[in-house]
Amino acid sequence: MSEAKRLAGEKAIEYVDDGMIVGVGTGSTVAFFIDALARIKDRIRGAVSSSEQSTQRLRMHGIEVLDLNATGPLSLYVDGADECDPHKRLIKGGGAALTREKIIAEASEKFVCIIDPAKRVDVLGKFPLPVEVIPMARSLVARQILAKTGGQPVWRDGVVTDNDNLILDVHNLSIVDPVAVEAAINQIPGVVSVGLFARRPADVVIVGGEPPLVL
Ligand code: A5P
Repeated sequence: MSEAKRLAGEKAIEYVDDGMIVGVGTGSTVAFFIDALARIKDRIRGAVSSSEQSTQRLRMHGIEVLDLNATGPLSLYVDGADECDPHKRLIKGGGAALTREKIIAEASEKFVCIIDPAKRVDVLGKFPLPVEVIPMARSLVARQILAKTGGQPVWRDGVVTDNDNLILDVHNLSIVDPVAVEAAINQIPGVVSVGLFARRPADVVIVGGEPPLVL
């Protein structure tokens, strides 16, 4: 599967134009994208990073990491996903970086999602849906998610996000209306963000393979 991830990450380089500041996601597929970006680093102005993990890798390659507040809107965001449906709606957050990922996706004109073929699904929800919560609201949010969605929230014990919050993974969902579920969970007090990217789906999906498939 890592070969498929590499092929997807390398294909995404075709979306990088000279002089760009590139939004960069998180995960093992994005790591291949960062390594490919390093080969053309003299052509870009820098990157905005969605996690400490990606920041470290970008800096290791000598790519400047910039503050989103200083850059303004971005032309391009490249990130992976845990699931992708036929409408390019996604579940993300397996790496606990969903909040910063959502911020950068929102700030970007084009969101290119890079995945291996196993991430493609007809209906989202087999992968437990990550929700970032303020620590004191963990139990409240879990009860309300159960009541509103019927899904089973499980605390990702031992994980603290880059924003010092916690993650609930919601199991046993079949998300037939992702926009509605995203909105419903977002409204619960204490939720920082939900790993459903439905209101703002990907614009382009690259499925790694020989050759890569561009959707
Ligand atoms: C990080 O929080 C996630 O949204 C990742 O984008 C997702 O988990 C994909 O990861 P891999 O590329 O490692 O499969």
